[in-house]
Amino acid sequence: KSKFKERLQVERTKSLLGGGQDRIDRQHAKGSLTARERLEILFDEGTFQELDAFKTHRCTEFNMENIQFPGDGVITGYGKVNDRYVYAFSQDFTVFGGSLSETHAEKIVKIMEMATRVGAPVIGLNDSGGARIQEGVNSLAGYADVFQANVDASGVIPQISVVMGPCAGGAVYSPAMTDFIFMVESTSYRFVTGPDVVKTVTNEDVTKEDLGGSKVHVSKSGVAHGRFGNDIATMKAMRRLLDFLPSSNDKSTLPIKETSDPPDRLVPELERLVPDDPNSPYDMKNIIRQIVDHGDIFEIMPEMAQNIVTGFARMEGHTVGIVANNPLTLAGCLDINASNKAARFVRFCDAFNIPLVTLVDVPGFLPGTEQEFGGIIRHGAKLLFAYAEATVPKVTVITRKSYGGAYDVMASKHLRVDCNYAWPGTEIAVMGAKGAVNILYRGDNNVEQHISEYNEKFANPMIAAQRGFVDDIIDPQDTRRILCNDLRLLRTKTMPEIKKKHSNIPL
Ligand code: COA
Repeated sequence: KSKFKERLQVERTKSLLGGGQDRIDRQHAKGSLTARERLEILFDEGTFQELDAFKTHRCTEFNMENIQFPGDGVITGYGKVNDRYVYAFSQDFTVFGGSLSETHAEKIVKIMEMATRVGAPVIGLNDSGGARIQEGVNSLAGYADVFQANVDASGVIPQISVVMGPCAGGAVYSPAMTDFIFMVESTSYRFVTGPDVVKTVTNEDVTKEDLGGSKVHVSKSGVAHGRFGNDIATMKAMRRLLDFLPSSNDKSTLPIKETSDPPDRLVPELERLVPDDPNSPYDMKNIIRQIVDHGDIFEIMPEMAQNIVTGFARMEGHTVGIVANNPLTLAGCLDINASNKAARFVRFCDAFNIPLVTLVDVPGFLPGTEQEFGGIIRHGAKLLFAYAEATVPKVTVITRKSYGGAYDVMASKHLRVDCNYAWPGTEIAVMGAKGAVNILYRGDNNVEQHISEYNEKFANPMIAAQRGFVDDIIDPQDTRRILCNDLRLLRTKTMPEIKKKHSNIPL
């Protein structure tokens, strides 16, 4: 027995050392932490319980039977983040480059299935050279098993991916199927094929960073939802994000954070933040910060489609999903990227019982061939579909204007939104005065007079209020108080389910 204890100690020490000190030093020299160091920051101190630390691969090709590292290149287990259970896997680049073998995949699938069973989020820290080359199709099979587990868990538990090193080829698709994907500046990259293959096939010269670095993915491709300066900042941000999220799609797991911010706090600043001129820009984020608890918001995709803001915040300690047009970029128009960004966010919130607060200041959809050829009709439909399908509490405030089809899309009353408000200066119309007069009075010289008549009729929210399309016209300073009240009431909202296998959202 004591001999076994000795052996256990040896194996445990080996497992803790991953690919050995030299490779750990190389990892540090790149500016990265090791797989274990990352988990230490992610979890509350001393709470991480590792599983399968002794698991080894079964490959016998390329002399692999003689090259074994206990744990096989991925650390899996569970622990607590701010006292709530979370499962995690962390790929260890120091062991076979973090590459995914059959057993490495089995370890990941095991914790994903456990997390789904008990209802706890999974966070995956990806740092891998891809499929383990020596294992051939067995490693590809392993990837597919992970993908299937991702799909099975989707909508049941929150899934977060962090790309912290290379992530190429088949490896890109597991993160792609999770709810949120984050990257680390300068040290992480994701692409389906690397620069060498790109050069051979398309003759393009491109660096790793320009092809699949964090900047590209958070601002151009939209396949990552955010990035942070280094491993430590990234892990701290993940702790913050997890704080906003429920553990699963079971409503009782929604977090509540005690707050000293009074729900009936009046916000006189809101009377001043929106310029009267409907064409002057202002930063919608300043409005959000004034309304939510302590001005605290965790933005999702802050560098992408900045004409719409999406993020998590709290109202009276309860998590809400914020969606808001931002007139600071593209005048707050809806375009392809904004529609995709917001639609996916709305669907996440709906799947996980997070109420939606929508702030509207939208002049319409962005015109142009680029948008039309790119399929703005299809993409805009996603946001419309997502809002209409969502059964969570939905509350909307129009802060300045809401024109055209975008009025309907942006959580209008007609999409079974529970509470709709407009601030007094709001314009709700098919289009702005100038455009409307040009069409209605083509060739007529009395343009100024027609514009002023049109404005008198439509440049206020009264008609919408008379129809009941807005429930009330509220003083901006009352916004937080009213929304907190509504959201409190709506905690008991129920909606009958329409029986179907699943809907067919335009993709
Ligand atoms: N399978 C098996 N071992 C792998 C591997 C893989 N897919 N990717 C990397 N490794 C191993 C390397 O053999 C090396 O082992 P060693 O420490 O015993 O020398 C170690 O991981 C580190 O790799 P290295 O190439 O030295 O690191 P790097 O930082 O210079 O480059 C990559 C990293 C990911 C760019 C490079 O390893 C690579 O191109 N890997 C293959 C990527 C790929 O095409 N995967 C299949 C896609 S599904």
